[in-house]
Amino acid sequence: MKLWGGRFTKEENQLVHNFNESLSFDQKFYKQDIQGSLAHVKMLGKQGIITTDEMNDIIKGLEGIRVDLDNETLQFDNSEDIHSFVEAHLIERIGDAGKKLHTGRSRNDQVALDMKLYTRHEVEEINDLLKTLLNSLLKVMEENTETFMPGFTHLQKAQPITLAHHFGAYFEMFKRDRSRLDDIHKRMNLCPLGSGALAGTTYPLDREYTANLLGFDGPTLNSMDSVSDRDYLIEFLSALSTIMMHLSRFCEEICIWNSNEYRFVNIDDSYSTGSSIMPQKKNPDIAELIRGKTGRVYGALASILTTMKGIPLAYNKDMQEDKELSFDAIDTVKGCIVLFTGMIDTMTFNKDIMEASTKNGFTNATDAADYLVNHGVPFRDAHGIVGQLVLFCEEKGIALDDMTLDEYKAISPVFEDDIYDAISLETCVDKRTTIGAPGPDAMKKVIEIYKEYLA
Ligand code: ARG
Repeated sequence: MKLWGGRFTKEENQLVHNFNESLSFDQKFYKQDIQGSLAHVKMLGKQGIITTDEMNDIIKGLEGIRVDLDNETLQFDNSEDIHSFVEAHLIERIGDAGKKLHTGRSRNDQVALDMKLYTRHEVEEINDLLKTLLNSLLKVMEENTETFMPGFTHLQKAQPITLAHHFGAYFEMFKRDRSRLDDIHKRMNLCPLGSGALAGTTYPLDREYTANLLGFDGPTLNSMDSVSDRDYLIEFLSALSTIMMHLSRFCEEICIWNSNEYRFVNIDDSYSTGSSIMPQKKNPDIAELIRGKTGRVYGALASILTTMKGIPLAYNKDMQEDKELSFDAIDTVKGCIVLFTGMIDTMTFNKDIMEASTKNGFTNATDAADYLVNHGVPFRDAHGIVGQLVLFCEEKGIALDDMTLDEYKAISPVFEDDIYDAISLETCVDKRTTIGAPGPDAMKKVIEIYKEYLA
């Protein structure tokens, strides 16, 4: 059944139908479409726009369709879209009363509502998945406040940190991602239903009532904007892109840490793959694939921004393009978060290798300079002296910790016996006690804050 055959004299061209249809993908939100119709029809009944009997028949019919779709006893056909499909089946099931469902409504406000309901649910789901990931990160942090590793800048060893501190950086990122989702949820939570095609309707609709039934904070305030606003999707795809960017950075680090050269971590066999030719290989495919899939989520954002940029008010068919790319991006991000969490949960850390790596890269050079500063040497001079120490060590192939006191004194007489303690890994990390720093005391305070946040 077509919703709009009346003024047409020719059959639709098959290619036109195929090009125009959206049922093949908007069937994804059949639940939301029926949920929106139920709210609309309850409102029509309450307002006396249809009779109570008609209202009850329609409700029963819609619920039956939902159950049959859930059980897959009702199959999708060649209807134009999910809205036509549901309406056609309603009329087939309950007769003339079904023809009143669409009173005071357009597919324009209907689809705006469906997409918003669907997206709102996915915003919540992804927020929950991120919470699970944060719990996994926190567990690693709690167990590793004293697991030393090198902190890097320019991918060069810089200063010693701990594994807890490194994971804490990602905790912050995903925590911000969640707060972005909260913001989006708040801003998008206004109901477009009742906006009609673009100019509202003359029926005495109660928009507050339907908004309330559907869990919105209230109705939208401009019917033209309501049917043509996709800002919330752009914001959501932007937030999803940022989540993917964070996952991708983390995956990149895991690939580096998992490399034969680093061996900081072991990705569990269940999250690794082999090579068809090289028997020795255990590849970090999952981390690489998450990193790779970031591209398609960015692509969805660029795509919808481009689609929306030239659309005059109000609804235009261009907007149908919002669906496939959003669905793909949402499903991709959900899959990536779940897989990433599983990979973290099963990953093990080679703490000895991480500690040895921290010791052999002059990560305590800054602390050696600070030692001199504490003994009255201006920092710029101290920097130069420690530079000479590093040069000396590099030539001999040793660490600062391995130099004799005589060797130290030959470069600067300021050095005394307590230099060894001052540049020990323990001191280098422990002394960093300002909030946000890697010192275990500072870290434990932050972990407490994170625990409260997740509680
Ligand atoms: N499938 C359409 C979409 O996704 C539904 C709205 C159709 N409205 C219209 N005036 N043709 O945008």
